[in-house]
Amino acid sequence: MSNRQIFLADIPQGKLGHEHFVIREADRPCPAEGEVLLRTLYISLDAASRAWMQGATYRAGLKVGDLMAGMALAEVVESRSSQLAVGDLVFAETGWQIFAAVPAGNLVKLPRIEPLTHLISVYGVPGLTAYFGSLECGRLKAGQTVVISAAAGAVGSIAGQIARIKGCRTVGIAGGAVKCDLITRKFGFDASIDYKAGNIVDNLRAECPDGIDVYFDNTGGDILEACLFNMARYGRIVCCGAVSQYDRSASGAGPQGVPGMVIIRSLTLQGFLLSDFLDQQERAIADLKGWVDSGQLTVREEVIDGFDRLPAALVGLLEGENIGKRMVRVA
Ligand SMILES: NC(=O)c1ccc[n+]([C@@H]2O[C@H](COP(=O)([O-])OP(=O)(O)OC[C@H]3O[C@@H](n4cnc5c(N)ncnc54)[C@H](OP(=O)(O)O)[C@@H]3O)[C@@H](O)[C@H]2O)c1
Repeated sequence: MSNRQIFLADIPQGKLGHEHFVIREADRPCPAEGEVLLRTLYISLDAASRAWMQGATYRAGLKVGDLMAGMALAEVVESRSSQLAVGDLVFAETGWQIFAAVPAGNLVKLPRIEPLTHLISVYGVPGLTAYFGSLECGRLKAGQTVVISAAAGAVGSIAGQIARIKGCRTVGIAGGAVKCDLITRKFGFDASIDYKAGNIVDNLRAECPDGIDVYFDNTGGDILEACLFNMARYGRIVCCGAVSQYDRSASGAGPQGVPGMVIIRSLTLQGFLLSDFLDQQERAIADLKGWVDSGQLTVREEVIDGFDRLPAALVGLLEGENIGKRMVRVA
């Protein structure tokens, strides 16, 4: 079977579209000594992949002609390393392609937890990001009021549920009535705010009359600004991501309220990357699995079939189509 790959045909200046990608056939790669040949099973769709097109972030920026970057749950189909055997599962930077030859050295064999998709959602990047962001950076305490943006998304839906499990009052911010209804009904948030309708500053004030103790920020931009003006004294803002700033050519002006509100309310802003907590993943997965198995944590996934649908799936994610973790099933 030959390989199929998706390259960046152009760097978007405004919104990402299908025209920025090109699909090509190629020969299946041969692994060199120390490498494994991976077949991608599920390719993860991540909001941050659009930010990689804006320039260097925590990784090198993408350029025209690059293989589209991305992580996948993949199976070893050929091994030239003693570390991994045929049939082993890994989560790897494969890029958007069906076959990838990658060094085995940095790969970790994953347990075959069923359904396998949970390895990409709740036990993968979104679940772990929600876990460490909430508990290590947010330092949640029972009784606190916690606000989460992009609350119907992969990270946000889990962050909100962790806050509820920890005894906090949870307010989710999402786009549209359908998502707002879902986050209270399905994910158990105490309240929701539709940032596309009404005045978000006023709505936050109404839902959080004593102020926000912890804001888990997935969006940056106007929502961050609205939260800044509603924070309780000594509140914490967990800077997880800034999705409102990704699907554009350059970052806009920063939110008002920095540093003013940060000083007046004695706030703490803490950014983090999941990679800061690599050594603690085992404990996190055990906790997340306990909550899933006991029914306290609902996992929502969107599996789209077909490798060629990757560009549309990413464009749609940035437009807010997704609920929960979006991925594309390749095989
Ligand atoms: N720090 C880390 O290590 C780390 C790791 C993983 C992810 N992240 C960050 O976590 C955040 C969520 O990522 P994800 O992969 O879980 O994506 P996601 O939340 O599943 O999907 C993105 C969502 O963002 C919302 N959105 C898009 N444009 C928006 C805008 N202009 N204003 C407000 N909301 C907007 C959309 O929901 P609506 O319909 O509600 O608008 C969309 O569904 C991102 O900022 C990402 O960069 C950080």
